[in-house]
Amino acid sequence: MKDIQVKKLIEAEKKRQKKVINLIASENYVSKDVLEALGSELTNKYAEGYPGRRYYGGNEIIDKTETLCIKRALELFKLDPNEWHANVQPLSGSPANLAVYTALSGSRTQSASGSGTFKIMGMKLDHGGHLTHGHKVSASGKFWTQVPYGLDATTETINYDQLMELAMNEKPAVVVSGYTAYPRIIDWIGMKEVANAAGALLMVDMSHIAGLVAGGAYPSPFPYADIVTTTTHKTLRGPRAAIVFARKDKRDKAGNPMELDKKIDKAVFPGLQGGPHANQIAAVAVALKEAAAPAFKKYAFQIVKNARVLADELHRRGWRLISGGTDSHLILVDTWNNGKKNSQGAGGISGKEASDRLEKAGIIVNKNTIPFDIRSPADPSGIRLGTAAETTRGRKEKDFKMIAKKIDGILGSQ
Ligand SMILES: Cc1ncc(COP(=O)(O)O)c(C=O)c1O
Repeated sequence: MKDIQVKKLIEAEKKRQKKVINLIASENYVSKDVLEALGSELTNKYAEGYPGRRYYGGNEIIDKTETLCIKRALELFKLDPNEWHANVQPLSGSPANLAVYTALSGSRTQSASGSGTFKIMGMKLDHGGHLTHGHKVSASGKFWTQVPYGLDATTETINYDQLMELAMNEKPAVVVSGYTAYPRIIDWIGMKEVANAAGALLMVDMSHIAGLVAGGAYPSPFPYADIVTTTTHKTLRGPRAAIVFARKDKRDKAGNPMELDKKIDKAVFPGLQGGPHANQIAAVAVALKEAAAPAFKKYAFQIVKNARVLADELHRRGWRLISGGTDSHLILVDTWNNGKKNSQGAGGISGKEASDRLEKAGIIVNKNTIPFDIRSPADPSGIRLGTAAETTRGRKEKDFKMIAKKIDGILGSQ
């Protein structure tokens, strides 16, 4: 690279990534092949439209690339192409979710109750939901109305009866499940029952768990969901991008075809995006092939084993974990009410202080709100830990025992 300034920055970031222990639950390390596809000449091409229906000439190869990516996406999650459609053009997770609401809100599904308000029933931010699940600072909450739900105060897990009652009262158009900071297995059947009872669609945002689902280490939402969105760069270990899957055969209450596939395609392009990023789509295709290999299955199970060890070791050392533990790649630690009182006896340390202290010692995490948090998102009560990135680097249970010991040493001291 001739640009020395940028080259130096890239080298410095590569070095930083190698040096630290990365416990950011939404990050991972992609393969050289994924990087090669991302940095390829495919970035030079404009390809507005879809395979076989482009607004620019010269798209023979791009058509093949996108078609291959779609095929691999459907195969990886064991979906019948007659039943499921995949759109691989969303640039990232947030635009993918926005595309779904854009597609649905202009349709007959606007509201099951027949009123004009398009309601998105989504998990509150401090309980583990994502901004794009209807939070007011995101476009999803500015353009549409969130019906917020939270976790059970005692178990810190989803209470499906509470959700059912809320859904029946509010009649949302769409129920969103799949979260940013929820460590447990989601009962997809329970979520489907909630959506069905309210006459709503079930949209699952499996961004965090997609790699676990692909590897068989977490239950698949596909048998129950109407729409599934996912980023490709978290546990799935691909480039930064997203996919929207939609059922082709969904009908509304009157029996009319909802054409979710066509509506979502239109919402992505021309609704929200222009030319797709063909290099990114090629890199997604590479990652999907990697995720279909037997080694990835092992990887997915190892992520969960590592997370369980990390959770158990922290718990054993006196740390309060939200919901008591984990079934996935992710752990939420309550650093504020941890039973290890600070010098004022007022609790532990804030999530920000915990994150800062760990970073100084080379362990990278993110501060995170906990359910019913009394503190602000800028300085919340907890930290979120994830095991996907370090599992990619070959770390196993014994390594995570050491990591737990280190974390306890750094955060436990006054
Ligand atoms: C559940 C969930 N959905 C969507 C997103 C948004 O993805 P992106 O940052 O690619 O826009 C995230 C990001 O962390 C997420 O956790």
